[in-house]
Amino acid sequence: MASHLLISTLLFFCLYATCYGKVHFSTLENSLVVTASPKHGDVIKTGQDKITVTWGLNSSFAASTAVAFHEIKVKLCFAPISQKDRAWRKTKDELMKDKTCQFNIVHRPYDPASDKAKVQSFEWLLERNVPTATYFVRAYAFNSEGHEVAYGQTTNAEKKTNLFEIHGISGRHISLDIAAGVFSAFSIVSLFGFFYAEKKKAKQVQNSQS
Ligand SMILES: *[C@@H]1O[C@H](CO)[C@@H](O)[C@H](O)[C@H]1NC(C)=O
Repeated sequence: MASHLLISTLLFFCLYATCYGKVHFSTLENSLVVTASPKHGDVIKTGQDKITVTWGLNSSFAASTAVAFHEIKVKLCFAPISQKDRAWRKTKDELMKDKTCQFNIVHRPYDPASDKAKVQSFEWLLERNVPTATYFVRAYAFNSEGHEVAYGQTTNAEKKTNLFEIHGISGRHISLDIAAGVFSAFSIVSLFGFFYAEKKKAKQVQNSQS
C-alpha cells in the first residue's frame, strides 16, 4: 500500500515536473498560419517602425485541432544568420532551453472564433531593446497547463524565407545625439555670453563718453 503511494507520487512528480516539462519543438504540430507585415529583406527600425502580425488556425486542419489551444504567444525570433557564433541565441529542440525566440510581441487567450473566418492580429511598435539582427516571427499555442502544443511561423522550416532585418539605435547614434545636445547647449550659453559682453562694452563706451 505504502509503496503504491510512493510510486504514484513519484509518477505524479515525474509527469508534472520533469517528463511533461520538457516539450520539444519537433513534437509540435505546425497548425498555425502566421504572417508579419515586413517583406523578405525589409529593413525596419526600433522605436519608430511597427509590425503587424496575424495568426489563425491553418484551414487544412479540423477545428477540433484547436480545442486544446488556451493561449497564443507571438514572438520575434533570430534567423540562423544572426545566431551564428552566438551561443546565447542558440536553437535547442527542448523549448525550455531554446534561445531562438527571445522577444514577446503579444500574449492573447486563444479566440475560438479565429478557427474559421477571422484571423487575429496585433500591431507592435518595435521595442528599443531589440538588437540589430535578422528575424522572423513565430507563434506558439499553449494548452491550459501552460505547455506548447502547436506553432506557426512566417518563415519556412529551413528558416530561409521571409526574413527581415531590424536595425536598433546603436551606441554611436546615442553618443552623437548627446554630443549634439551638449554642443547646442554650449552655443546658447556662448550666444548669451556674447550679448552680455557686447552690452557691457557698450556701457563702458557710454560711460567713458559721458
Ligand atoms: C496548411 O497546412 C498544410 C498541411 O500541413 C500545408 O501544406 C499548407 O502549406 C499550410 N498552409 C499554410 C498557409 O501555411
